[in-house]
Amino acid sequence: MTALLLCADPLAPARSRRADPHFAREAEAAALTAVIDHDALARGDVEEAVRRVPRDLGPAWYRGWMIGSDRYADLERALADRGCRLLTDAARYRRAHELPGWYEVFQGRTPASVWTAEPSDDWLAEAAARLGSAGAVVKDFVKSRKHEWATACHVPDLGDRAALRRVVDAFLDLQGEDLCGGVVLRAFEDFTGPEARVWWLDGAPAAVTAHPDTPGERVEPDLAGVGERVAALGCRFVTTDLVRRADGAWRVVEVGDGQVSDFPEDTEVRPLIEALSNA
Ligand SMILES: Nc1ncnc2c1ncn2[C@@H]1O[C@H](COP(=O)(O)OP(=O)(O)OP(=O)(O)O)[C@@H](O)[C@H]1O
Ligand SMILES: [Mg+2]
Repeated sequence: MTALLLCADPLAPARSRRADPHFAREAEAAALTAVIDHDALARGDVEEAVRRVPRDLGPAWYRGWMIGSDRYADLERALADRGCRLLTDAARYRRAHELPGWYEVFQGRTPASVWTAEPSDDWLAEAAARLGSAGAVVKDFVKSRKHEWATACHVPDLGDRAALRRVVDAFLDLQGEDLCGGVVLRAFEDFTGPEARVWWLDGAPAAVTAHPDTPGERVEPDLAGVGERVAALGCRFVTTDLVRRADGAWRVVEVGDGQVSDFPEDTEVRPLIEALSNA
């Protein structure tokens, strides 16, 4: 039996084993669970983060809030010291969680992308030329500011260098300390309809859900060729978000580590959680 490590309820007493209500469905569906303190992990207190995990728990998946890749490596080590092995190791977590980790494997099925830690004017000019698209989308290695679409995410015309600079600077400003990795520019593609989130476990699609932004809008994506890419990535539990482009092609908008991908609010999570418990 594989354990599921959930985030502890931050409002519960310090020794409580209650899971954060956001992960109540997982807590209910899993046969064996333990909790970690996500706040403690985020501030670097990894010993405190794992204090409530029973010793010698054995193999485990994590299901919880996103974790930075370096912190995930800290977590992996601290858990190993207690006799608990994360089934996704830190290198594979980073590979699925951060765009530069998965981009090469999905190249051709996902919008063309370039990235840097230092988006100088020269770099932006070169990046715009390399993408060759009319417009672009700005994000960091993990997240965009899609809710500030016009000011900090979408660049309608890459030829307008001042506007590109403005959107990238607004993005950096809003991300602040939370910036993950660096800045990514992605060629804008004309997408239509809602995204489908496909949950891959050991190379097979274990579930297809709506994207959490559009719960209730579940679509059936064409997965031809995607499984091969997921297998090539070499991570056991990942998500791919797919959307149809105006020309009909199904595109991979992004890849994520399944442990930290969110479920839409109306999803029955039990089958997937049971599959994880038996993996
Ligand atoms: N290359 C692109 N062309 C057109 N639209 C895009 C492109 N990349 C992203 N988008 C739009 O912006 C949204 C956010 O992008 P993305 O999913 O990469 O960021 P995110 O902040 O990580 O979102 P999530 O909540 O899914 O984790 C997408 O759902 C899509 O609608
Ligand atoms: Mg997304």
